[in-house]
Amino acid sequence: MTQTEDKAMLSIEDTPLVPIEKVVALSKRRGFVYPNSEIYGGVSGIYDFGPLGVELRNNIRRFWWWSMVQLNDNVLGIEGSIITHPRVWEASGHVENFVDRLVDCKKCKRRFRVDHLPAENLEQNKCPVCGGELTEPRVFNLMMETYIGVVEGERMKTYLRGEACQNIYLDYDNVLKSSRIQIPFGICQIGKAFRNEVTPGNFLFRQREFEQWDLQFFVHPSEMQKWFDYWKEYRFEWYKSIINHKDRLRFRAHGPDELAHYAKQAFDIEYKSILGWQEWEGIHWRQDWDLSRHSQYSGQDLSYTDPETKERYIPWIVETSGGVDRTFLNLLLDAYEEEPPSGKDKEGRTVLHLHPWLAPIKVAVLPLQKNKEELVTTAKGIHNRLKRLMVAQYDDVANIGRRYRRQDEIGTPFCVTVDFQTLEDQTVTVRERDGMTQIRLAIDELPGYLVEKVTWK
Ligand code: GAP
Repeated sequence: MTQTEDKAMLSIEDTPLVPIEKVVALSKRRGFVYPNSEIYGGVSGIYDFGPLGVELRNNIRRFWWWSMVQLNDNVLGIEGSIITHPRVWEASGHVENFVDRLVDCKKCKRRFRVDHLPAENLEQNKCPVCGGELTEPRVFNLMMETYIGVVEGERMKTYLRGEACQNIYLDYDNVLKSSRIQIPFGICQIGKAFRNEVTPGNFLFRQREFEQWDLQFFVHPSEMQKWFDYWKEYRFEWYKSIINHKDRLRFRAHGPDELAHYAKQAFDIEYKSILGWQEWEGIHWRQDWDLSRHSQYSGQDLSYTDPETKERYIPWIVETSGGVDRTFLNLLLDAYEEEPPSGKDKEGRTVLHLHPWLAPIKVAVLPLQKNKEELVTTAKGIHNRLKRLMVAQYDDVANIGRRYRRQDEIGTPFCVTVDFQTLEDQTVTVRERDGMTQIRLAIDELPGYLVEKVTWK
């Protein structure tokens, strides 16, 4: 599979872990991410995405969809609703089990998740910050409530989905019947999920509104191990293919005390950043939990009959569940570098070594000078041609060095410069972001050259 090949990937020197504040500042300054409702003081754990952020998100989503749905003949996609029947969340176990246990410090009033407290603080009932006494644990449900209907007294309480994958189980039977696909097969979805996280934080890492991608792969129980191993490896390679620091990726098996209520086994794919080793995606052995529970709660038979053997059974499920936002954050943390002045760039620069497939802007077209009409006209002509194929930007403000640095900082993999030689021989300079190398190319060769470099295949 081509996604696992690193041929289009960069090879940058190992760089120090990036403080999250650097990425937060860049995100706001250059229009990747803004705090939500900022003019009203903001809402903790909720963010908006700016012009560059939305391009990056779209590329991340598209690459996931391409490699999960488009490349796999036995995987189909759906897009489910955010609001469902409230019984869904009773059947799923979320109403009962989707809880955080919290303690408060009586002295400094800080609040902690019990599962995040160091063992010694838990044993001694002592605040890890000020040493004050902690309260007894209290249980908080993470589901966000909402109401359907307008007439008071007839409104139905339900929930914004706490995990996006529930729609896949709800649509499983419809997909089976409408597509004539057979087990083993998978259903994919990308969509928003909502959790009343008690301790949102670390920028996009833990939010209250976020986006998940899921594969739910339905198998015969006898083939569960095979497919679990297969998708676990596939997803690991997927993440590896989009980062620079391959050694910052690992698996971590869940211990029995940390398994979610639906999982019999789980592995996290973890990425190491300034936040330490943290979950990026979960690979879950959900077995028959979901379809059995929805059969039981809905009264509908969700078992499957094998068309050849006529065996009837509840399919088991392998889940791979990751986050668009966490991918966004990890990619920025992985790609960010402040390069000191060097022979190639005397002022030094901030550069985002984003994979060319994912970079929000693929190419910037720059006339060497903006007061030379022929340069500007030619550059605008090239820009008009390229923007039909990929996200391209025209920029003629400031000297060429500053314009290169502006593009480096947002991860644009290629800059095309129109200079005086262009007017003589219809060639341009193509500057590549990471090595700052330059080649000369005929204008007519540009579209093919760039498409080859910036699209996945
Ligand atoms: N359906 C399984 C499920 O929801 P999860 O481990 O709770 O499993 C899957 O979530 C992924 O969703 C995580 O690996 C993470 O990437 C993302 N995620 C979970 N909670 C998040 C939050 N509060 N903010 C941002 N992303 C989150």
